[in-house]
Amino acid sequence: MRIGIYGGSFDPFHNGHQAMVRSALASGYVDCVIAVPSVRNSFKRYTAVLAAPYRYYMTLHAAEKSGLEGFYVSDVEFGIEGVSYTAVMLSMLTDPVYISRFLQNNGVSCKAASEKHSYYWIMGSDTLATFEHWYRPETILKYVTLLAAVRPGDDTDIVRASDSVTGNFGGEVEFFRLDGVNCSSSAINSTGDFACCPDAVREFIDIHSLYTDNTKLANCSEIAREQFFDNAVKLYPELKEKRLLHTLNVGILSAHLAGVYGAGADKALIAGQLHDCVKEKDIEEQRRLAESYSGDLFADKKLLHSPGGATYARDHYGVSDCGILDAICYHTTGRGNMTLLEKIVYLADKIEPSRTYTDLSDIRKAAETDLDEAMRMTSACVVAKFRKQGRELHPLTGDMMRDLGL
Ligand SMILES: [Fe+2]
Ligand SMILES: [Fe+2]
Repeated sequence: MRIGIYGGSFDPFHNGHQAMVRSALASGYVDCVIAVPSVRNSFKRYTAVLAAPYRYYMTLHAAEKSGLEGFYVSDVEFGIEGVSYTAVMLSMLTDPVYISRFLQNNGVSCKAASEKHSYYWIMGSDTLATFEHWYRPETILKYVTLLAAVRPGDDTDIVRASDSVTGNFGGEVEFFRLDGVNCSSSAINSTGDFACCPDAVREFIDIHSLYTDNTKLANCSEIAREQFFDNAVKLYPELKEKRLLHTLNVGILSAHLAGVYGAGADKALIAGQLHDCVKEKDIEEQRRLAESYSGDLFADKKLLHSPGGATYARDHYGVSDCGILDAICYHTTGRGNMTLLEKIVYLADKIEPSRTYTDLSDIRKAAETDLDEAMRMTSACVVAKFRKQGRELHPLTGDMMRDLGL
């Protein structure tokens, strides 16, 4: 097959990106296009973009709803340690075992998926002019033919840039005609107007409240933000989409609430992000991890992931701060004498933007001004849920409710 590869931050994925894919597929040069969202972009400080799982799943949903046959999305960059250089990513994506499995998972027949493929790197004509400054252009050109998009009216500098690339590094450059809208992620980010994004992207942004002041993590330190981004990549293989995005949302909301109530935003960010980190592990593994943190304090299977998460955060995510570990440990039950951080993570877990188990608008509003009132309202929901399920409240939850005056 002739495979087009389209790398980018996709922050957010917009109609201009979709037009590139559509035009490349229509060009006759490629049989399919694989979009590869960057995980740690080498050009931007990676804290300048949304955490990688958001951008990956946003792009995946856009592809699924695009109606474009042969438009796929790869998560290959999650397997790269450190900065995502194109040359490194291509060595992994074009590996015969990887690409065959990837194509088959996307519905390509075993025979077509396993043949020898040729690869095209899809890029804007403006990017072609900067290509010579990329990391190892000569290596990239061994894997791919450059396939540059040309808009009607683009000037002749394109030909000069192409000649320069092939003259200096060898390889081949081809051109295809780009039809469709011209929009940019930076313009979308600065205006906050997402009209230029596909419906699926707008819906995704809405569900998770992305591109808000909260997601900028402005009250967190650079170190905490980088930790958050790195942890998000580590969590990717540990949790399925819904839970992974929930945990990132809890981290972001916790950092925001920490800013409102004068708690440490860095600690809140990491505690919130890691609170469910073992929830998809085998239950016996959860029990072993839980006992290592809190003995047999939590017997209910649904609670094991809380102390278990504390152990795992300590041993696998390098968290040594006891306040963070306790916030993870008690995020499900609460307890008596909760710290501010524990309350924040408890609450953020129940009301982060993608939560829909009941109408949370009043609690979300209260959370901005009166933490204990929001906790009381949340506890009422929890008690109602337990009663409905015929479950006993943990004694620690009773302690928390007494403290709240319930
Ligand atoms: Fe949980
Ligand atoms: Fe949770």
